Amino acid sequence: METTERTGTRYFESRDDAVEAFGRHVSQAKVDFFRAVGMDVVFGRREGAFFWDVDGRRFLNLHCNGGVFNMGHRHPVLVDALAGALEYWDVGNHHLISEARAAVASRIAALLPGDLNRAVFAPGGGEAIDVAIKMARGVTGRTGVVSAAGGYHGHTGLALSTGDAKYLDPFGPRLPGFTQVPFGDLDALDAAVDETCAAVVLEAVPATAGIVVPDSAYMQGVRRICDDRGALLVLDEVQTGLGRTGRLFAAQHWDLVPDFLVLGKGLSGGLVPIAATFYRDPHDRVFAPDPFVHVSTFGGAETACAVTLALLELITADGFCERVEAAGARLQQGLEEVCAANPGMLEGVRRLGLMCGLVWRSPEIGLLASKALFDNGVFAVYANHDKRVTQVLPPLVVTDAEIDLAVRAVGAAAAALAGPEYTALAAALAPVPAEGA
Ligand SMILES: Cc1ncc(COP(=O)(O)O)c(C=O)c1O
Repeated sequence: METTERTGTRYFESRDDAVEAFGRHVSQAKVDFFRAVGMDVVFGRREGAFFWDVDGRRFLNLHCNGGVFNMGHRHPVLVDALAGALEYWDVGNHHLISEARAAVASRIAALLPGDLNRAVFAPGGGEAIDVAIKMARGVTGRTGVVSAAGGYHGHTGLALSTGDAKYLDPFGPRLPGFTQVPFGDLDALDAAVDETCAAVVLEAVPATAGIVVPDSAYMQGVRRICDDRGALLVLDEVQTGLGRTGRLFAAQHWDLVPDFLVLGKGLSGGLVPIAATFYRDPHDRVFAPDPFVHVSTFGGAETACAVTLALLELITADGFCERVEAAGARLQQGLEEVCAANPGMLEGVRRLGLMCGLVWRSPEIGLLASKALFDNGVFAVYANHDKRVTQVLPPLVVTDAEIDLAVRAVGAAAAALAGPEYTALAAALAPVPAEGA
């Protein structure tokens, strides 16, 4: 085993040995999938907006794990915060009163819209969504849950039943009480939310559905329907929260105060997992009879809280959100120029801040587009429920030069996709299953 400052720890003699062991002991299907596409990169060194294959090939990260790497990879301030916390903290004990969790909850509460001021912590977004649904059921005494078709809230128990059948069917039927409506359709929501509905669960900007940016009229309509029927609104800001859309929380674009607002991904600085379900005071009554009715061993790990606290300093610095919006505008302008130069390939751009979707014309192009971008040094994935859309989520600290690099790569990928190499690959890949969210 060799350790160097730059490449990190290597556990295998060669890259091929690592791939072989991953296939044998973790997931052969993933290895086969990525090999078939020619994208079997082994995630190595990482820094800022880039990561490297263990053999040294560099990629600009426009996936950022859906916003996990909002501050780029291994932001030095966050690495220092974690190193400092490790001097005296560990994950903590989830049963006990925690100064670190109190600090994170109170500081985020001060930033959140309206009266969202309490938190339950989780190790990941799916569990945090589960918590919101559990609480909504506990508070209302109802069981119904309405979510958006094509939405994605995680693969845990209740979150799974809010999502697409594709992820559910191998494991049994959707849980009773869960129904889906088209995102953006107030009439359908109005018909689905009745007196049995505990919660309406929506992403602020559905990412897996193709970066669908809603307007105020829709979001305010959702709030009104929930209020009329006594249902609680769960806003999933796992991807959109913490500055991604050019506001600290996407809800602020629509003057929306949900009953639950769920954060994950970027909350961890990409270093230690942490997620949180924020909610309003009145809903705390569900825990009054027994505060241990919901616990989570790694929820709000104190070392993770230290990273989150440092992250909050960074994203609340003067001008942070304005810079995100300016970077998003530059990205949009560049991508729109590429669209104009490739009208047969590309339709346009969807965007809120640095949450961006590049819309291709071909409905099945998603994987090929990712491959063409990969071949041009960019890592980006497609929206699994609308494969015409490549999700473009650079780090929020992306520089103008990195944006321009991304735009050039998209231009080169669009030109190449019209060529014979990718036509042949498309035919070869036809039976390969699509990548997850
Ligand atoms: C919008 C959204 N909600 C919830 C989740 C689930 O988060 P996790 O994978 O941390 O469980 C994801 C993950 O991709 C997500 O994108």
